[in-house]
Amino acid sequence: MNTNGLEEINSEIRACRKCPLGDSATNHVPGEGNPKADLLFVGEAPGKNEDLQGKPFCGKAGRILDQLLKISGYKREDIYIANILKCRPPRNRNPKPAEIKTCTPYLVRQLKVIQPKIICCLGNFSSIFIMNKFNLSGKVHPIGKIHGKIFMPPGIKALKIVPLYHPASATYNPNMINILKKDFRMLKNIPV
Ligand code: URA
Repeated sequence: MNTNGLEEINSEIRACRKCPLGDSATNHVPGEGNPKADLLFVGEAPGKNEDLQGKPFCGKAGRILDQLLKISGYKREDIYIANILKCRPPRNRNPKPAEIKTCTPYLVRQLKVIQPKIICCLGNFSSIFIMNKFNLSGKVHPIGKIHGKIFMPPGIKALKIVPLYHPASATYNPNMINILKKDFRMLKNIPV
């Protein structure tokens, strides 16, 4: 079913060859979830498992995200999960500025169609892009300083932006899971 144009955008993404990552991808990963979600997560880029399956957050970071979602009171089927880049960068390296520039118009179109009330940015790349996009450039700081805070983009009444640590950070640093749990618990209390 063509749900309010989202499937059209996602089909375009699957056929995209605008940058070399589109050629190296096993599968493009447009995003997944409820097209009418109140809450939308924006990750960084697909990893190995996501590339193999064409679905966001289905590997190690996805298992951590699922654990955190339980605490947040949201279910996967209620939310939408998208990424800054729709294709896996080689060896999971950081997204390059040119790749972000080329790929993010897809994310912006997805956001326009879904119109979430809360955008949770997972990690630095996502937080920087989303906050700049919604005129919050003056509030952009490293994720360690802004995680778990709620930002209201000027001029848009019904939207809140919440930067969070990336779930994968808990795989490198076991202390991070407690910080992530605290932030995800807080999501329960944000009215939509
Ligand atoms: N990390 C991300 O940022 N996105 C994914 O889809 C998977 C892992």
